Amino acid sequence: MALNRRIFVLGGHITPFIGKNHPDFIWKRHPDFGTRENPTLEETISTAVLGALEATGTPAAAIEKAWIGNFVGELFVNQGHLGAAVVGAHKDLMYKPVMRVEGACASGGLAFSSAVDALRAGHDVVMAVGAEVQTTASARIGADYLARASHYARQRSIDEFTFPAMFAARAKAYRQTHGLTERELAQVSVKAYANANRNPLAHMKAVKMDLDTAAEASNRNPAFLANEDLNPWLKVSDCSQVSDGGAAMILVSEEGLRKLGKTESDAIELLALSHTTGNLYEDGNPLVMDATAHAVAQVYASSGLSPADIGVAEVHDCFTITELLMYEAAGWAKPGRAIDLVASGKVAIDGALPVNTGGGLVGFGHPVGATGIKQVLEIYRQMKGQCGDYQMASQPEIGMTINMGGDDKTVVSAAFANR
Ligand code: CAA
Repeated sequence: MALNRRIFVLGGHITPFIGKNHPDFIWKRHPDFGTRENPTLEETISTAVLGALEATGTPAAAIEKAWIGNFVGELFVNQGHLGAAVVGAHKDLMYKPVMRVEGACASGGLAFSSAVDALRAGHDVVMAVGAEVQTTASARIGADYLARASHYARQRSIDEFTFPAMFAARAKAYRQTHGLTERELAQVSVKAYANANRNPLAHMKAVKMDLDTAAEASNRNPAFLANEDLNPWLKVSDCSQVSDGGAAMILVSEEGLRKLGKTESDAIELLALSHTTGNLYEDGNPLVMDATAHAVAQVYASSGLSPADIGVAEVHDCFTITELLMYEAAGWAKPGRAIDLVASGKVAIDGALPVNTGGGLVGFGHPVGATGIKQVLEIYRQMKGQCGDYQMASQPEIGMTINMGGDDKTVVSAAFANR
């Protein structure tokens, strides 16, 4: 999409992403069980919204319009109509136009994209929020809810864990075609956990993952699919987390910067944004992320950037194989060779193209609706030197995000520059 005016991300707020294996997550054996509960979806939304207003010094009254990305609040917490929940976060948001958008795991990306559309149309100060609470159900029941992001009538029966199974099928095809070993693929998981271990907001901040554990099925790391054909191709360590969390950001035009008393150096600039949508009823080549490749190609074309220009990236690693496929869709590696970027350390925090520096969906966690917002804020935070223990040695100039819903069906990709 060509930008008809300059658009900036002014920052925002990410709540801790929590769930099973996070030290603060309340479950029956937690010492605080019975005395304290995990944040609700409503609390998570309020925390993200108020945090974003405070972090950017934006009065709530200055927000002209807002969007919230959420996938299945109705199923996990019996709550829809979340535009009104955003308004409930602050009295000065009363009667503002706010709506929820949904595109499975790209719901946050769609909220971001909608906010950008509003700025292009003439608004000056807008907000994009994302939130999901998923730990109210077991992973198995949650897998049924998340399967609504597939073509349910056709794909639900692949396995009770539908999405893990769909990406196990991709892993199988990729590994058989390109000769990628289980131990090589395990390096993607090890990178994600190592990054998360340095990130205080990450779901897996306290869980260590070494190569031996990640590379082999074991009681600690089971291959858990019932589908016998797909079972050997995916283990727990290959999967993103079932997380609760939220994120919110403020976006502005140049006029919006002025209205809020900010300068370009407080913000990062959006260089290009693309939103592509595939066909729910058809699946393409399992070795390629087609909708993703189209989205990224449009970002390169409209920004004038090339793959070599990207200095930091957040990609949608819902499973370890997805991260490799994203590298190839983004033009950073030739087909079948994405693992070289991991093995060489190029995509590590101290590499030339750090990817998912806070742990990605595998390590940071994946509260579905929040992910697309969190990704943009992670680029902002790296560019502004706000990442603490996982800060890159030199602040990157150019960054990219890729947020994906379903099995490569809804994709939002964007490029940013530090100002
Ligand atoms: N041997 C065999 N099986 C075992 C086992 C062992 N030793 N130990 C456990 N298992 C099985 C069990 O069957 C267990 O399920 P039940 O308890 O219901 O029987 C299953 O493995 C999972 O084990 P846990 O419950 O201990 O695992 P967990 O609660 O830590 O969950 C996970 C792990 C299943 C991988 C979960 O984190 C998960 O589902 N992750 C993926 C989430 C997901 O799919 N998100 C969406 C991504 S797709 C996307 O982003 C796009 C979109 O639009 C949706």
